[in-house]
Amino acid sequence: MNFFESSKLLMQFAFRPIRGRTHAERLESFYGYQASRYDDYRERFLIGRREMVERLPLAAGSRWLDAGCGTGYLLDCAGGRARECERIYLVDLAPSLLDVARQRVDLGKWTNVEIIETDITSLTLDAPVDVATFSYSLTMIPDWFAAIDQAEHLLTPNGAIGVADFFVSRRHSPDSVRHSWLTRNFWRAWFDSDHVSPSQDHLAYLTHKFEEVWLRQARTRVVGLPFLRPPCYQFVGRKR
Ligand SMILES: C[S@@+](CC[C@H](N)C(=O)[O-])C[C@H]1O[C@@H](n2cnc3c(N)ncnc32)[C@H](O)[C@@H]1O
Repeated sequence: MNFFESSKLLMQFAFRPIRGRTHAERLESFYGYQASRYDDYRERFLIGRREMVERLPLAAGSRWLDAGCGTGYLLDCAGGRARECERIYLVDLAPSLLDVARQRVDLGKWTNVEIIETDITSLTLDAPVDVATFSYSLTMIPDWFAAIDQAEHLLTPNGAIGVADFFVSRRHSPDSVRHSWLTRNFWRAWFDSDHVSPSQDHLAYLTHKFEEVWLRQARTRVVGLPFLRPPCYQFVGRKR
């Protein structure tokens, strides 16, 4: 995607109002016009997805749930290991992004992938999964605590969770990077117009619920505005 196209998308993010009465309608209002360009723009923005997936215990016969899967980009990140999974559930609420996921599944001749259009907090499956992932989706899920609880509920006893997302630190955070007042408030306000809510509590809740296996805190770059560096993290944990 060239500079002109990414600038146009950035302007749309900033000024195009998100409409809808329900969470699903608001998601579709945000993603409908950009679904076909989604992967291109997010490739360099949503960092750490590949590194997070590389650390997941995906093996032959695994069952994997990707919650808020969008276009199914994580399938590409996992590559051959995903092919060996018994079943992969791609779950999302935005039909336009799921259409792109369907094209990816058809083009890649995936036979072990099931696409489910529903809210992750009300998902039921016929058997537990070994791995659950949230890639930049927790910050868009209003009931994110219910989503984490649901993933924990759907995981096998030794199951693993992988998360990549934006965040801001707590004001006093001895165990993690500590962000300044400006960082904490600027990024919450900046993302708010896109209904993305970087939280100081996601990581705390994840480490409370799951034993930490790997955690990295970093900063990404906004395509077209390289001086802006939103904080993000990648986390892999095991069910306690
Ligand atoms: C920033 S996108 C990330 C998509 C993809 N995981 C990726 O890494 O590119 C966030 C996704 O979360 C989905 N989402 C938000 N709330 C959801 C919910 N309650 N249930 C299922 N999906 C949801 C959105 O529709 C969107 O596809």
